[in-house]
Amino acid sequence: DEIYLDGLRGVVPPYPMTYAELEARAQAALPPSVVSYVAGGAGDERTQDANVTAFERWGLMPRMFVGADRRDLSVDLFGLTLPSPLFMAPIGVLGICAQDGHGDLATARAAARTGVPMIASTLSADPLEEVAAEFGETPGFFQLYTPTDRELAESLVRRAEKSGFKAIVVTMDTWITGWRPRDLSTANFPQLRGHCLANYFSDPVFRAQLPAGPEQDPQSAILKWVQLFGNPLTWDDLPWLRSLTSLPLVVKGLCHPEDVRRARDGGVDGVYCPNHGGRQANGGLPALDVLPDVVAAAEGLPVLFDSGVRSGADVVKAVALGATAVGVGRPYAYGLGIGGADGVTHVLRSLLAEADLLMAVDGYPSLADLTPDALRRVL
Ligand code: FNR
Repeated sequence: DEIYLDGLRGVVPPYPMTYAELEARAQAALPPSVVSYVAGGAGDERTQDANVTAFERWGLMPRMFVGADRRDLSVDLFGLTLPSPLFMAPIGVLGICAQDGHGDLATARAAARTGVPMIASTLSADPLEEVAAEFGETPGFFQLYTPTDRELAESLVRRAEKSGFKAIVVTMDTWITGWRPRDLSTANFPQLRGHCLANYFSDPVFRAQLPAGPEQDPQSAILKWVQLFGNPLTWDDLPWLRSLTSLPLVVKGLCHPEDVRRARDGGVDGVYCPNHGGRQANGGLPALDVLPDVVAAAEGLPVLFDSGVRSGADVVKAVALGATAVGVGRPYAYGLGIGGADGVTHVLRSLLAEADLLMAVDGYPSLADLTPDALRRVL
């Protein structure tokens, strides 16, 4: 309503109203190496593009005589009632998108304003305690990249629990970085690492392993981080992961139904089906295409989904295919790039408004009405 009323008054919205415009404005505003990092994907980026076009192959069937004048987008997740299924997927090195470098804090502020939860990445420019302090009433989740040092993993999780995070999301698909030509050709790694080490530098277990404090010797801290970062876990490690926390445990990167079943049997509280926005493996299936099988294998466990979501209609379609909650990545990073917390807020509110209006005009008043029957395959 606000946006339409502003339009009637002749006020032009300060931020883009379509994803295409948002992407173009952000990419024009951000330095080329930042654009490479955010926009880039694995290989020739066909899987990344396919994530987006996969949504075009589904259409929502409109229903009339429903009287959908009130919509209920709320979702129960891990005992929390969220105002909508939308959440912000974890984005590492978010600081490079923000003018002041504090992209994690700005994003957390947008979470507080909109009620849209943020999954805060391990790789942040702001320590997780400071990020959590900005959430207000909105729940936040902590994403863990499991380091090779178990004591450090435990310390990060303890800190997240103490700071009030409501779930731990362990990312499995990125213990090593995929082949990303754009990153390689712009050589932006030195720039990136300055924005991703706050959680390590502020950790007592990490600091104790340094020959000197990071302030005295940043180089040795970086080398230590590189040494500890990537841990290719196996199923034998799942009981340990489970034992890390009594908070809800979600495993991110599960796209194969067999993996979903094993994770469920191993006691996780939710599965998260993305393909990392096409950043890790090229030549794979679009994440949306594997979602129905993941949902079936999850057998009622919550399924979080992301990769390729660009509109409120995409959110609605993912819910209809069985997602409990739906995440966006790049769209909010671009919002951050053009307008800080205000830009992220704008992106989230636009997605929510579009989803809500679509449910109104197509006659689906609640998320429970959005089942696979609501969709038809576009041939
Ligand atoms: C990511 N993603 C990610 N995932 C994660 O678990 N931890 C992380 O630190 C990051 N970092 C990261 C940086 C950037 C720049 C992007 C674009 C993505 C993956 C992210 O959580 C999510 O899976 C994808 O972004 C979803 O795809 P879209 O919405 O970007 O297409």
